[in-house]
Amino acid sequence: MQIFKEIGPLKAFLVEKRKQGQTLGFVATMGALHEGHLKLIRDSQNDNSTTICSIFVNPSQFNNPADLQKYPRTLEKDILMLTETGCDALFCPEVETMYDQKSHLRFDFGHLDKVMEGQFRPGHFSGVALVVSKLLHIVEPDIAYFGQKDWQQFAIIRQLVIELKFNVVLKSVPTLREPNGLALSSRNARLTSAQREKASLISRVLTSAKEKLKNGTPVGEVKDFVITTLEAEAEFKVEYFEVADSENLTLLRNVTESARPILCIAVFVGDVRLIDNMFL
Ligand code: PAF
Repeated sequence: MQIFKEIGPLKAFLVEKRKQGQTLGFVATMGALHEGHLKLIRDSQNDNSTTICSIFVNPSQFNNPADLQKYPRTLEKDILMLTETGCDALFCPEVETMYDQKSHLRFDFGHLDKVMEGQFRPGHFSGVALVVSKLLHIVEPDIAYFGQKDWQQFAIIRQLVIELKFNVVLKSVPTLREPNGLALSSRNARLTSAQREKASLISRVLTSAKEKLKNGTPVGEVKDFVITTLEAEAEFKVEYFEVADSENLTLLRNVTESARPILCIAVFVGDVRLIDNMFL
């Protein structure tokens, strides 16, 4: 695997691949890779002749400096995992390379970035949109892969790509889970083994909530059920649980208002903030 820290040499490599008629698949990450990321890489390898991964812990998407500081950084291990998976290239720039000048751009996605994650992490999606724009300009991939776990992020990047006319196809890849149901996430590394076991309750509660909604239980009642069940556990604090239309993220009071509802949740387990979602 070729490793690039600078934009120029990466671009030269990509131009060469283009000349050879290769198609480019791209997986943007913040590192601390796990099987979920490797699934994105493998999907890209199935669809494209060259796969590029980026690892960049993007400061502009962290509204909480302590969260940025605590974000796990495991570059050497990540490089080994990517090499073993047969990824062709890694772009792992320094902050100064991606932000060589103070950025004045701010993104506003209307309703899409005002609810759920957007409500509790102000500025987060503007930072995501900024770095994803930079990365898409640098890599110019044919297809970019994102995990379904960050569904709201996917909906926002889709809007970004449409509005700014990026010539890229986006693919959302279903969430991988631990055997106990816990959604794979880089943040799981910060859970103790007891917390990791207990956190499996999140996916179990989402599955029960799904069943309840399918059986006609009103959204309000299901919300109460989800919050009460999770918060009965010491260390659990639900930040939000919403049922939304998966396309425009309108929050639903009734699942019949949407063709494809999605259940979305953010929960603190101790001081680790976990998110998860499931389509109805
Ligand atoms: O999902 C992530 O890991 C990040 O938000 C992304 C898309 C790599 C942008 O920093």
